This record gives sequence, C-alpha cells and structure tokens, in this order.
Amino acid sequence: MSSHQREFLCKVLVVGDLGVGKTSIIQRYVHNIYSQCYRATIGVDFALKILNWDQDTVVRLQLWDIAGQERFGHMTRLYYREAVGALVVCDMGREATLQSVERWKEDLDSKVCLQNGRPIPVILLRNKCDQLPAGSRTRNLKEMGKELGFSDCHLTSAKENVNIDEAISCLIKEIIAND
Ligand code: GTP
Ligand code: MG
Repeated sequence: MSSHQREFLCKVLVVGDLGVGKTSIIQRYVHNIYSQCYRATIGVDFALKILNWDQDTVVRLQLWDIAGQERFGHMTRLYYREAVGALVVCDMGREATLQSVERWKEDLDSKVCLQNGRPIPVILLRNKCDQLPAGSRTRNLKEMGKELGFSDCHLTSAKENVNIDEAISCLIKEIIAND
C-alpha cells in the first residue's frame, strides 16, 4: 500500500432466514465457489475480502455470516456492534422468507446505527433467481426495496453467480459515501 492510500475497514452483516443462501453468497463472492449441499451455519462465521477499490482506497471487507436460526436468539445485538452496512437475504422461491425481511430490517434498525446516529445502509437480496421460471416477471424491485425501507434491492443467484459483485459493490459505495 502506498502512503497516500486510505484503508477502509468495513464490517458488513449478512442476515436472513434459514437456508436462503447467505453462506453461499459469501462463498461465491470471496472464493468464487458454490456447493449444492446445505450445512446450516451455527452462530456466526466470518470472511474477509480485500479490495483495491480505487487508486486511493483499499477496502478490507469483513463479512459476518449470521445463522438464520439466530433470529430467535439473543446474540444478534452483540454480533451487530459497529457494523457499517448489511445485506438482508431472502429466497425468491419461498414467500415466507420475503415476509421475514421486514423483521430482519427492524432487528437491525433497533440494534445498530452509524456513529452519527443514522441507520446503517441495508440492501435486500432476493436470492436463487436461477429458479425463476423462464419469462416470469418480478415487481419493480427498486420500488419494493424502498417500500420496505431498504436502500436498494437486487435479484441474485449464488449458484449462477448473478449480481453478487454488483450488489455488494453498491453497498460498499454507500458505506464509503457515509464516511
Ligand atoms: P443458514 O446458515 O442456515 O442460515 O442458511 P444460509 O442462508 O447460509 O443458506 P446456504 O448458503 O447454506 O444455502 C442453503 C441451500 O440453498 C444450499 O443447498 C445451497 O446450495 C442453496 N442455494 C444457495 N444459493 C442458491 C442459489 O442462488 N440458487 C439455488 N438454486 N440454490 C441456492
Ligand atoms: Mg449459512
């Protein structure tokens, strides 16, 4: 790193119901791998990705992969501390997981905020878009995200590597803009 470069340390939370694909999204993003087999995360897992964001900026992105089952636990307040952004993930094929994104958003808003007191930026990912029947239409995504209080919303597939980089880049842009 040359002397004029600045380094951003970003703690980003990844939350959402059981089995929606949080771990798969992180594995795809950080290691470009994907596995069909499902092993539920216990508690929390971590992953780090270092990005040469631009000529002047290195981003050390720390992803906190929080188990879906933690929604019913009491640990999230601890896990959320000092986070500067979050991804809330749901499974396009399971309506119930979309219903819970509001609860995840409320959980985040009630337990973590930026140093200036404003809410952290949160992006909604509707994952497993590879399972959409061909030709099916989705409601205007951005509008839907805004209605639910998210700064943005993306259709993603960890399986086919669709929109993962784009969505996370959007979040990092917001985090850097907030600094
Ligand atoms: P918890 O750790 O229990 O909270 O689940 P999770 O959100 O981490 O889900 P995980 O990434 O383990 O994925 C659950 C299952 O969905 C696995 O069998 C994955 O292979 C599958 N899966 C994940 N992403 C996709 C996707 O984009 N498309 C399809 N078709 N399957 C996916
Ligand atoms: Mg997991």
